Amino acid sequence: MRIGVAGVGRIGAMHARTLGSLDQVDQVLLYDPLPGRAAAVARELGAAHVDTLDELLAGSAGVLLATPTDTHPELLRRAVGAGVPTLCEKPIAREVAEMAVLVADVEASGVPVLVGFQRRFDPAIVELHRRIRAGEVGTIYQVRATGNDAEPPDFGYLPSSGGIFRDLLIHDLDAVPWLVGEPVVQVFASGSVLVDQAFADADDVDNAVVVLRFAGGAHALLTGGRHNPLGYDHRVEVLGSRDSLAAGLDPRTPLTSLEPDGSRVGPDAHPGFVERFRAAYRNEMVVFTEVVAGRADNPSPVRDSLVSLRLAVACDQSRRTGAPVSMLEVAR
Ligand SMILES: NC(=O)c1ccc[n+]([C@@H]2O[C@H](COP(=O)([O-])OP(=O)(O)OC[C@H]3O[C@@H](n4cnc5c(N)ncnc54)[C@H](O)[C@@H]3O)[C@@H](O)[C@H]2O)c1
Repeated sequence: MRIGVAGVGRIGAMHARTLGSLDQVDQVLLYDPLPGRAAAVARELGAAHVDTLDELLAGSAGVLLATPTDTHPELLRRAVGAGVPTLCEKPIAREVAEMAVLVADVEASGVPVLVGFQRRFDPAIVELHRRIRAGEVGTIYQVRATGNDAEPPDFGYLPSSGGIFRDLLIHDLDAVPWLVGEPVVQVFASGSVLVDQAFADADDVDNAVVVLRFAGGAHALLTGGRHNPLGYDHRVEVLGSRDSLAAGLDPRTPLTSLEPDGSRVGPDAHPGFVERFRAAYRNEMVVFTEVVAGRADNPSPVRDSLVSLRLAVACDQSRRTGAPVSMLEVAR
C-alpha cells in the first residue's frame, strides 16, 4: 500500500522513515508546503513527494498528518472528505468546543481516524491494558503514572504550548482513563516553578501533580515535570486486587535505587521521548497500516481526545484555584 505523510518536520520525518521500513508499505509519499523540505526528506528516505495536499490524498491509501496543531482541523476534514483513513498527530484541535464539532464531523464521515497518542501503542502499556480488560488485575485500587522530560523545551515554545497539562500531562490524561476504563469524576491538580523562571513568565509551571478520582472509587496519581537530570522517565503502575503491574520499569529507567540489589542508572538511560517510545511509535505505524487495510480496530479514536482535553482544562482550573474540580462542571 502507499501511505502519505503531510508535514515532514520533526515527528513527520520520523514517522515517514518508520513507514518506509514496513513490509506492507510499498511507497511513502510526502507533502510539505515549506519549499524543498518534502523533496529533501524524500531523497534521504527513498520516498516520493508531491506538491499539493490534493495530490497526496488522491495517491494514498492512508494519510498521516504531522503538521502544526493549528492546521489539524482543516486537514483532517479534507482527508475524511476524500474518504482517506487518517492518523492525526495529537492534539486534533486546541479547544474543547472546536474539537467537539470536529469529532462529530469525523464520526459522521465513517472514515477511520486514529490519534497519535503513542502510549496506546507501547507494547508494555498495550499488555497492561489487555490484562486489565481480561480481569487479571482485578478491582483497580490505585494507578500511578509519571512522565518527566530530561531537559526543558525551548523556552520560545512555552507561550504556544498550552501549558504543562495540555502539553505534557495530556498523554497520561489520555492513557490512564483508557487503562482504567471508567469516567473520571473529580480532578485536583497542583504545580510549581522549580526548574526555570521562564515557566512563570509564560504563566505556566514546570512540575505538576494530578489526582484523578474515577467513578468506581479508584484513584490515579499523575506526576510530570520538565527536568530529570538522569534522563527521560515514563512509567505507569497499576495496583489491583489480583496483581500489581508496571510499564516503563527496566534497566533503562532513569532512577537510582539505593537498595543493595536495586537498579543503577546506566549509560543507556532514555535521553528523550523518542528513545523511550521507539517501539510504541513503530507499533503505531503498524497498527495504522492494519486499520487502513481494514484488518484492525482503531485503538485511539477521536472521541477519546475530548476526554483528555477536558481533563487538561480541569487540571489547569484546579491548579489556578487550588480547589478540586468536578468533571460535571467542565464544558463538553
Ligand atoms: N505524539 C508525539 O509524541 C508528538 C511529538 C511531537 C510532536 N507531536 C505533534 O506533531 C505535530 C507536529 O509537530 P512537529 O514538532 O513535528 O512540528 P514541526 O514544526 O517540526 O513540523 C511541522 C511540519 O509541517 C509542515 N506544515 C505546515 N503546514 C502544513 C500544511 N498545511 N500541510 C502540510 N505540512 C505543513 C511544516 O512546514 C513542517 O515541516 C504537532 O501537532 C505536535 O503536537 C506529537
